[in-house]
Amino acid sequence: ASAAAMPAEVPAPRRVQDRRAPQPAAPGRGFRNAPDSDPSISGNREWAAAIRNRMERSTLGLDALARHAVGSVAQVDALVAETTSAGEGWRALGAEARAAILHRAGEVLEARRADLLEVMGAECGKVIEQGDPEVSEAIDFAHYYAESALALRDVDGAVFAPVRLTVVTPPWNFPVAIPAGSSLAALAAGSPVVLKPAPQAQRCGAVLAEALWEAGVPRDVLRLAIAEEGEVGRRLVAHPAVERVVLTGAYETAELFRSFRADLPLLAETSGKNAIIVTPSADLDLAAKDVASSAFGHAGQKCSAASLVVLVGSAARSERFRRQLVDAVDGYEVGMPWDAASRIGPLIAPAEGGLERALTRLEPGQRWVREPRMLDRDGALWSPGIRDGVQPGSEFHLTEYFGPVLGIMAAATLDEAIDIVRAVDYGLTSGLHALDEDEIARWLERIDVGNAYVNRGTTGAIVQRQPFGGWKRSAVGAGTKAGGPSYLYGFGTWADAPVSE
Ligand code: SER
Repeated sequence: ASAAAMPAEVPAPRRVQDRRAPQPAAPGRGFRNAPDSDPSISGNREWAAAIRNRMERSTLGLDALARHAVGSVAQVDALVAETTSAGEGWRALGAEARAAILHRAGEVLEARRADLLEVMGAECGKVIEQGDPEVSEAIDFAHYYAESALALRDVDGAVFAPVRLTVVTPPWNFPVAIPAGSSLAALAAGSPVVLKPAPQAQRCGAVLAEALWEAGVPRDVLRLAIAEEGEVGRRLVAHPAVERVVLTGAYETAELFRSFRADLPLLAETSGKNAIIVTPSADLDLAAKDVASSAFGHAGQKCSAASLVVLVGSAARSERFRRQLVDAVDGYEVGMPWDAASRIGPLIAPAEGGLERALTRLEPGQRWVREPRMLDRDGALWSPGIRDGVQPGSEFHLTEYFGPVLGIMAAATLDEAIDIVRAVDYGLTSGLHALDEDEIARWLERIDVGNAYVNRGTTGAIVQRQPFGGWKRSAVGAGTKAGGPSYLYGFGTWADAPVSE
């Protein structure tokens, strides 16, 4: 065959779904989780390779940034007024029509899976292995909240009155799933949304917003606000017409937001300092695998990440667990997301402050089991670090770092280990690896976190099965969990239904 007979462009391979893939949902049809891309299917490996080929030079989302820039307080005020008024039509559509649009959003996000992975890698350094389940989660939020909207409508004797404007301020570490989940929940409940992506994840926000518009969410009901932090961002959060602010970010950011406006209607998912306890009854190999992936997935930049492992009794004295853990971690290649071998990508910004300290300095009594190494000149690529001998009350015990470093602690008994875990200010996720039923029961009775996982890692909550949300300083103003049956209640109030004669 001559070269001239070849098509000008070779079409990109398509993702192959396995046969259990759900049919597109329709209102009232119930909910099934979207499957991740199975890498054991060779077509999916080619598909992922094609995405990586585009990633380094990707321009996805770039063109939208100037178009949606909000640069002044006056522009914020106009945006707030326009979006609030567009919300009237959205509310009047009714739950059924909104649910149909949300289900369609789930389908468009699935169709856009490759684009979303490309922009997450290009802009935020996320490797495909980490990004793929994130897209599945965004799809799940669309279908799940569509069904939740119908459930709100079906409550007898009460009418759900949605808030008139929601502002969504997501983080950069889950640059698709979290803005998708917060926005879709508000939209499902009947509230219009201003979505202000994190400054580090604006292109991801733009690609996401395009997908939701394509699905039929009106452009004036979901507004994209490309805004910097500072005066403009502050006005957007503090504007008196804003009836709900959804923040996912640091506890300090929630405090800052509240300092802008005393009566801020905040739903905030905030920091975590999460631990996995391993008892002598545990399957140590399984525990090592789960600790490694929970600590170092996305370079530890997850509020749900495990930052501590607390070994109990003979597990603390045995070298076996440490050896298994180090083996697991040594298998992780660190590199840019467009390199096929990379399992851990770069930090969102060069390590500085507390994280730099955690990657470079030990406290008294500690030793490196694996000393982290800086692999690039900027300080964004780090090999995973594991320190042993972390003492109760030390800085490492109590501080959130958001990076690829794990501390090992020891406790004589399970109760002592639980005391260690409970001593932190946050309460987002926690793990227990134990096969003894009494130990599991004791831990569940005493642990004070939102998401408590037994014999599983602490990251990657699944919509419906594992609704996600924290306690203590991991939540501010939040009473309900994302991806759970009552999350939409946070976006309105109940009123008595008018009695018809
Ligand atoms: N939902 C994510 C997880 O469970 C964190 O935001 O890892």
